[in-house]
Order: sequence, then structure tokens, then C-alpha cells
Amino acid sequence: MARLIFTGLSPNAERDDLSLATSLLLRPWEWVHGPAVEKLERIISTRFDRAEAVAFTSGRGSLAAILEALHLPAGTGVLLQAYSCVVVPNAIHWTGNTPVYVDIEEETLNMDPDDLELKWTPACRVLIIQHTMGRPANMDRLMEIAKRRELIVIEDCAHALGATYHGKEVGTFGRAAFLSFGRDKIISSVFGGCAITHDAKIAEEMRAIRTREGAPKRWWTAQQLFHPLFLMMVKATYRIGLGRLLFVLGKKLRIISYSVHPAERTGSRPRAMSRILPNSLALLAIHQFEKLDRLNAHRRQIASLYTKELTGITGVTLPISEPNTAPVFLRYTLCTEHAVEMMQCARKANVRLGDWYRTVIAPAGTAKIASYTLGSCPTAERVALQTVNLPTEINVTPADVTRISKVIQTCV
Ligand SMILES: Cc1ncc(COP(=O)(O)O)c(C=O)c1O
Repeated sequence: MARLIFTGLSPNAERDDLSLATSLLLRPWEWVHGPAVEKLERIISTRFDRAEAVAFTSGRGSLAAILEALHLPAGTGVLLQAYSCVVVPNAIHWTGNTPVYVDIEEETLNMDPDDLELKWTPACRVLIIQHTMGRPANMDRLMEIAKRRELIVIEDCAHALGATYHGKEVGTFGRAAFLSFGRDKIISSVFGGCAITHDAKIAEEMRAIRTREGAPKRWWTAQQLFHPLFLMMVKATYRIGLGRLLFVLGKKLRIISYSVHPAERTGSRPRAMSRILPNSLALLAIHQFEKLDRLNAHRRQIASLYTKELTGITGVTLPISEPNTAPVFLRYTLCTEHAVEMMQCARKANVRLGDWYRTVIAPAGTAKIASYTLGSCPTAERVALQTVNLPTEINVTPADVTRISKVIQTCV
């Protein structure tokens, strides 16, 4: 049978990342405390115009810290796009604010500036701009509206580390931004994130929040370090039909973590999300950061190969990016009315395309807890059901692209 292709499951991990995680597992004294967080923050600061960088255990924790540091009056409206992850509105709720959803543009999957004009009310003080799947949003128009409406802009760069808009790095446009080093992001330390800002007061407040929240527990850190190795075992045993069972057991027995904890699906705030990034995970993130340009060049090359292979197929819309942008294609997102059938058909050919970002608020079943009102962002609701996310990460080869594209052509 053809090699199994997954879009998820620690996709970024290369052999050197696995060896680093393994060697760190054997050095428990380096798990939580050490100098790596400061080093990572210096690297990030250099990349983002000497901004202040404050690393946390997750992107969602970074966002919550930014919002808390802004000291907004309770119930402040925070505008964000639909077609996002529940952890984003959760962070808005956790900090006493109210999510206000804006619809997306079908072509780019990013916030629609026209709908932003409609959804804005005087109660809104903050605008979160998400660069979905690594394709930069229309910053000219969104920033112009933000300026006119006196909105504080936070860029959600969870999918977009390294992307540029008109030659300028995303993450450098607003008052603050945040990155994610989650398991299926541009670079990964399994859990991890970083807030960036040029506002020294916000940075100082965020450091105080981090001190208050403290360091993560040792077992939690070990759980993340073990994640890439465990998933390698999962992948290896899929061939003999054990992978799925192992994966489910791994989560149930808490050998590996959930990317969205079951408690977050009901809106709760796990403390582990807002702590200081542990030393060992910072070392994993630094190691991946050093490879960032190669990782992103690979994603771009894979995306252009998909475009070459898939152009002209009836019933399938290929991703379009804003002009003058350099996207990083966290995923290569197709739209088709037969998305479910396509994914089922691909599965038979041993290509598992996964269901990440296939609902208006991901994961499925979280729209209500995210205070999303059904019908309020019709384009996002429709498009979410039509999306099929193809993998682009470093372990995807040009031969895989040919194979996946053939599968798509047969399945459409
Ligand atoms: C658009 C977006 N923003 C923020 C996050 C949160 O990042 P993290 O998983 O590091 O908390 C995610 C996670 O998937 C996301 O998709």
C-alpha cells in the first residue's frame, strides 16, 4: 500500500528535532528553567524590528496576556474574523471582553474589510487581524479602518510566521501581535507562543502576568517533549492498524496533550496555557526558528507545485492571495462543494487530509461557546464546509504533491 500521508500529527518534526526532543527528555534539569527563553526572545525581537518579545506556553496565552495588559473596560468589543479557532474567542472571554465576529473574503479566507465596516460599533476597541493559513490579510484597508475607528490592532500570526505584506513582515503592523509554536504551526515546540509589541508598558505588564502565572509543571513539559516521539510511533504503527488506537490511548492516558483541551471546548481556561515557555520547549522553538527560512521556502515551493498540478480542475477553487504578499501557506486550502466526499475518497488512497478548520469556529461543535451567532458570517460558514487543507510542511515531497493531486483529480 502507498505510504500514509497525514496533514497533522507533528508535521514539522525532522530527524534533528526528534533527536533534540529525545536528548532533552534525558536532561530533566533543563526541562523548565534555563537561559533559552531569553535567547528565543532575542531572536524574535531581531526578526520583528527590535520589538519586545514575551514568550508563553501558547499563542492563546500570549493573546490573553496582550488583552489583559490593555486594561480594557469589562465587556469591550473585540473584533475578530469568523473561520478561526475557539481558543481565540476563549482568550477574549477569559479577559472579560466580548467577541464580535466579522465575515471573511471567500478568496483569501481573511477578514472582509466591508463586513468590518458593518460589524463595528462604538463598543469595539480592539481589532484582531488573522492571517489565515499563512496568507496575509488586506492590511491596507483593515489598518485604514482601524485608524479611522481608533481600534487597537493585534495581529494573529499563529499561521503566518515569516509571511510578508508589501515587503513588511506580518506582526509588525499593529500595537501588538502574537505567534504560535503549536504542533501544527509554521514552527513547532508542540506548545508555545510569543507576544510581540513595541509598547514598553504592554511588554512590562505581560512580563508581570507571566511571573504571576509561573512556570509550567515538569510533567506537563515532559508530556510535550515526548509528543514528537510518540507520534512517530503512532505513524509507524498505522501500517499495522494500531496507530489510531495508540493515538486515542495516548490522549486518554495523558501521555500526549490535546491541542485544544476538552475543558476549552466548554470555555474553561487551563492554567498551563498562560505560563512562561519552559526552557526545553524554547530550545525546540529556537532549533526550528533557525530553519525557518528553509521551512517556509519549502512550503512555498510545495504550494506552487499544487497550483501547477491542480489548475483547471473543474469544481475546485485554488487559493488566491492578496497582491504583493509573500504567503507562507501553513496549508494549501482548496474549496469544493464535495469536500467531505473528497476527503473520504482520499482516505481510501491512504491520504488523510484531517478536519482542522472545517467549521466556522474550529474545532466542530464550539461555535456556541465562542458566542458565535449562526448566520452572522454566512461566507465563513459556507466556505468552512467547502475547504480541504492540503499539507505543505517539510516532510511533504514533490512526489507526494503529485500523488495527492492525482487523488484530488480522481476524487473530485
Ligand atoms: C488562528 C489561530 N490563532 C491562534 C491560535 C492559538 O495558538 P496556540 O495553539 O499556540 O494557542 C490558533 C491555534 O490553532 C489559531 O489557529
